[in-house]
Amino acid sequence: MTASKSIYLETLPPDLDRDALPAHIAVIMDGNGRWAKRQGLPRFMGHRRGVDALKDLLRCCKDWGVGALTAYAFSTENWGRPLEEVEFLMALFERVLRRELQEMMAEDVKIRFVGNLKALPPSLQDEIARSMDDTKDNRGIQFTVATNYGGRQEILNACRAIASRVKEGTLHVEQIDEAVFEQNLYTAGLPAPDLLIRTSGEMRISNFLLWQMAYAEIYVTQTAWPDFDRTEFHRALLSYQQRDRRFGKVKM
Ligand code: FPP
Repeated sequence: MTASKSIYLETLPPDLDRDALPAHIAVIMDGNGRWAKRQGLPRFMGHRRGVDALKDLLRCCKDWGVGALTAYAFSTENWGRPLEEVEFLMALFERVLRRELQEMMAEDVKIRFVGNLKALPPSLQDEIARSMDDTKDNRGIQFTVATNYGGRQEILNACRAIASRVKEGTLHVEQIDEAVFEQNLYTAGLPAPDLLIRTSGEMRISNFLLWQMAYAEIYVTQTAWPDFDRTEFHRALLSYQQRDRRFGKVKM
């Protein structure tokens, strides 16, 4: 994590309330391809620059006191991209993990991958397992990467796991509640995201954390992911802190 696009804003900007920061932020990092096209570069350059933006956001979350960041790196639908782009992304994830592991240890980052990891290339699975194991006791920030992730698939998996326990007699139907359901999601143990940031303008959730996003505030910016820097993040947090979060209730 060496690249820092903005050397200013190293500490929490004074117009943000430290006590009202989101505990968990989710990001849909959209627009890498369009960013590259606008610069006259091949798409893969957008993904490379996207890694720098993600590293800086992770560091910024840590600097400013946000406890958890989850990034949507590859959806179950992304296999439909041209083979060379899929292969590039898989190789990129592996390279970045190998390159950044030491730095993540130094910065006390606990990394976790969520999704159907068994369908990923075996060498990437090895790197993922190693990074999760090495960082499992770190407490600085929880960094979750959704890879080959689909929200509907995650919900189906949870249903199957719960149904199996009912079938084998270790769980009664009446015991199934939200807490039990959440324990069977990939994200078990993580708080639900308070804020979803989506770059590049699209107004959708795209099968990301469907259950977990129930009460997330949504912030969409036109900025493409590679250009999402600390100034943009500051803007997103200001917008978040102006929201009136009622969770379906009426404020008296
Ligand atoms: C969406 O832009 C971006 C992706 C599908 C890939 C995002 C992945 C990274 C930034 C790398 C993360 C790396 C690690 C190790 C966590 P797009 O290609 O859909 O852009 P477009 O909509 O403009 O075509």
